[in-house]
Amino acid sequence: MSLKQVICGFTTLVLILSNSFMLEAQLQVGFYASSCSLAEFIVKQEVRNALSRDRGLAAGLVRMHFHDCFIRGCDGSVLIDSTPSNTAEKDSRPANNPSLRGFEVIDSAKDRLEAICKGVVSCADILAFAARDSVEITGGFGYDVPAGRRDGRISLASEVLANLPPPTFNVNQLTQNFANKGFTQDEMVTLSGAHTIGRSHCGSFNNRLYSFNSTTSQDPSLDPIYAAQLKQQCPQGSPNSNILVPMDPSSPTTTDVGYYRNIIANRGLFTSDQTLLTNTATATQVIQNAQNPFIWRSKFAAAMVKMGRIGTGNAGEIRENCRMINKEEVEIHGDILEAILLYVSLIDLVPASNVSKSWCSIVASSLRHLKKPKPWLIIHKQANCSPYATTTHTYDPCSNQWIKISQPSIKFISALKSSQSNVLYMLSSSKFSFSFDSLNSTWFNVDPPLVWRMDPIVACVGDSVVVASGVCQFEEPLHHWLRNHQ
Ligand code: HEM
Repeated sequence: MSLKQVICGFTTLVLILSNSFMLEAQLQVGFYASSCSLAEFIVKQEVRNALSRDRGLAAGLVRMHFHDCFIRGCDGSVLIDSTPSNTAEKDSRPANNPSLRGFEVIDSAKDRLEAICKGVVSCADILAFAARDSVEITGGFGYDVPAGRRDGRISLASEVLANLPPPTFNVNQLTQNFANKGFTQDEMVTLSGAHTIGRSHCGSFNNRLYSFNSTTSQDPSLDPIYAAQLKQQCPQGSPNSNILVPMDPSSPTTTDVGYYRNIIANRGLFTSDQTLLTNTATATQVIQNAQNPFIWRSKFAAAMVKMGRIGTGNAGEIRENCRMINKEEVEIHGDILEAILLYVSLIDLVPASNVSKSWCSIVASSLRHLKKPKPWLIIHKQANCSPYATTTHTYDPCSNQWIKISQPSIKFISALKSSQSNVLYMLSSSKFSFSFDSLNSTWFNVDPPLVWRMDPIVACVGDSVVVASGVCQFEEPLHHWLRNHQ
């Protein structure tokens, strides 16, 4: 293996390992074009199939993407099932359970994708594609979805309420909640337009009908005729908590501007909908959106793209099953990892890095647990012209930096080489320099072996350095060399 190959091999290794230290992922339109070219097509087919059976699922998928992105970013955490030891986001009441729907659409898309491109397409991306397809199929504008999201490994019901706005929020609270995720007030009004499709449980707005405040039981901002209809659909004290009402009764499965027209008519279903009329700026947006369906559709598409970028980083995995995090890799802890990194040579790490994906991820995840990661990845560079000066850098995963190691300068006319061991050496017909410590920072210069070998195997064996190849070999005790040549 040439030095060039070694360095190339290591450059690759560094990229793989340093992935987990980067914070921002670059999402890309057409991310799966070469790795799984049918990805978006298959998701769209599955969404189409599902919507042909139940068009209402479009609303479920759009909402699910929103609920995914607002908690821990768009990392598919909303898809994870609860376990005996963890209540997951999807089981948080009442925000997600029992109202979130469409999980089986994501599952079937994932099953098909795993069959053709195993371990490639993230669940978070599948959800982002499915939400886009739902918008498009129900009459909104289609849009390009930048992809490359990674799936998270954490899903906690306890994080839902603090991040998702409840239907009782007023305009200031909504503005703040969306600002926390990087949205303007205008974008908040635009995204709320998603309530033009779908349905709601009575419990999400019952307070407006029966227990508004101490002076009036019914919300005065609600159109009385609409309120009467809602009371019929959602009788007070009904034991049936599964009753559902459409949010935009005249076109519940069409992505249009019915939502804004309802608000203007005081028929916004939730406090959080009707409140948009109480503030001059948001009321102006509501009216403009109601009057300009084309503009709202394009603003909505742009806001969905922006929402899909929340909290996307390089950390995470490609889940095999969207409902479960991948089985935990075995981690190599503290001392053992340090020992491996210190004693496994540069050369040995190159093939090791190719052993398996799990080796790479074990090292990456283990490094995060090292209390004081030591510099461990070493690259020797050598000028390709005389006097072939060498410089050595080591990678410190803690600071994410390359550090130059000062070494005794080796004036020697020969290429830097290595055998399958810790030993690095330079050998010419007049001199032999070698180093075998873990950082290769100490070099010994001695006379060359008596028998000249073009490309020998050089190794530390016990206290000797052995230079061998073919039938002849040269051997001298190491302590003898150290004594005579230091
Ligand atoms: C502005 C703050 C928001 C609040 C307070 C809110 C609240 C709610 C509530 C309470 C429901 C009904 C749940 C139920 O009882 O069944 C609902 C449904 C829905 N929400 Fe929102 N939401 C908000 C923003 C959004 C956004 C930004 C989107 C998407 C971009 C969205 C998409 C939907 C959809 C599509 C449904 C219908 C779901 C279905 O039919 O299964 N919502 N929302």
